[in-house]
Amino acid sequence: MEHRHLGRSGLMVSEISYGNWITHGSQVEEDAARACVQAALDEGITTFDTADVYAGTRAEEVLGRALKGLRRESLEIFTKVYWPTGPGRNDRGLSRKHITESIHGSLRRLQTDYVDLYQAHRYDAETPLEETLKTFDDLVRQGKVLYIGVSEWTAEQIGRALKIADEMGFDRIVSNQPQYSMLWRVIEAEVVPLSEKEGIGQVVFSPIAQGVLTGKYQPGQPPPAGSRATDESGGANFISRLLHDDVLTRVQDLQPIAADHGLTMAQLAVAWVLQNPNVSSAIVGASRPEQVKDNVKASGVILDADTMKKIDEVLGSVVERDPAKTVSPARRP
Ligand SMILES: NC(=O)c1ccc[n+]([C@@H]2O[C@H](COP(=O)([O-])OP(=O)(O)OC[C@H]3O[C@@H](n4cnc5c(N)ncnc54)[C@H](OP(=O)(O)O)[C@@H]3O)[C@@H](O)[C@H]2O)c1
Repeated sequence: MEHRHLGRSGLMVSEISYGNWITHGSQVEEDAARACVQAALDEGITTFDTADVYAGTRAEEVLGRALKGLRRESLEIFTKVYWPTGPGRNDRGLSRKHITESIHGSLRRLQTDYVDLYQAHRYDAETPLEETLKTFDDLVRQGKVLYIGVSEWTAEQIGRALKIADEMGFDRIVSNQPQYSMLWRVIEAEVVPLSEKEGIGQVVFSPIAQGVLTGKYQPGQPPPAGSRATDESGGANFISRLLHDDVLTRVQDLQPIAADHGLTMAQLAVAWVLQNPNVSSAIVGASRPEQVKDNVKASGVILDADTMKKIDEVLGSVVERDPAKTVSPARRP
C-alpha cells in the first residue's frame, strides 16, 4: 500500500482507504464488518472513513469496536458532521451547537480521544461560515480534531472558507471529499484547479461507482443477489440512478482494457482515480473481505495516457462532467 499526503498537510494517508457507508450497522452483519476492517488492515490500509449519520450513528459504533485495541498512532480515523443524527432542529447542520455535540458523540462511539480528520458533510446555508470555521478551529485547539475537511463543497464555497480562515487566523481546510470516478468527474473543471492551488487534497468517494464499475451489473439483467442494488435497507435506492443500460453497456466494454493490464474491473476503477495527483486517497466500500483484497491491488498501478484515452473513448457521453452537479441542500435536511 502506498501513502500520500492529505493535501498540503503533513498527514500521510493510505492512498486507498476503507469507508463504512451503507455497510456497517446496516447492510452487513457485524462479523462481516469486522472481517472487512481486518482485511483492510492486513492489506496495509491505515485510513478509515465514517460519518455520524451512517446507519443512524451505528456505523461509527461498529468501526469503533472493530478498531478497538489497535495502536491509535497507526490509524487515521475520519468522520463527518452535517446530516441529521436525531429528531431535533439542532441535530443537523454546521452550527456551533450541533458540531460540538456531534463530535462528542462521534468520539464516544469511535472509542477514541480524537479524530484525524473532521469533515463538514455538506455546506450549511443556514449557518454563517465564520461560526462553523471558528467551531472547527476550537476543536483543533482542544485536540479533539487534528485536521479539518469538507465534503461536496463547490469551489466557490471552499474559496470563501479559505479566505475567512486566512483573515481570522483559523485552521485551514486541508481536504474535500467529493464523489469521483470514471463516470462522475464533476470536480475536474473547478474544484480540482482551486484545490491544487490551495493545497487541498481530494479524498474521493464511490470510486467504483458503488459497484457499477466492477461490471457485475449486466444490462437488461436483474442485479446479482447480495449486491448493493438488492439492499432494501438503503443501498438499492442510492445505486439506482447509476443502473441504466447505456451506462452498464459501456462499462462492459471496459473489460478488455482491464484484462490487457492484468487488472480486475474494480482495480481499474480505483487505479483510474489515483492517476489524478490531486487525489489524496480513494475511499472504497466493501460488503465482503475478498472485495477489499481485490481493490487494494490498485495501489501503485500506473495507467498510461493511451489507456486513459481509451477509457474516455469507451465511456463517451455517459461521463458526467457538469460542475453544477456539486450541490448541498438549499436548506438543512
Ligand atoms: N461524503 C459523502 O457524502 C459520501 C457519500 C458516499 C460515500 N462516502 C464514503 O465513501 C465510501 C465508499 O463509498 P462506496 O461504498 O459507494 O464506494 P465504492 O467503493 O464505489 O462501492 C463499494 C461497493 O461496491 C461493491 N464492491 C466493491 N468492491 C467490489 C469488488 N471488488 N467486487 C464486487 N463488488 C465490489 C460492494 O457492494 P456490494 O457487494 O453490496 O454490491 C461495495 O460495498 C463510503 O463508505 C463512505 O466512507 C462518502
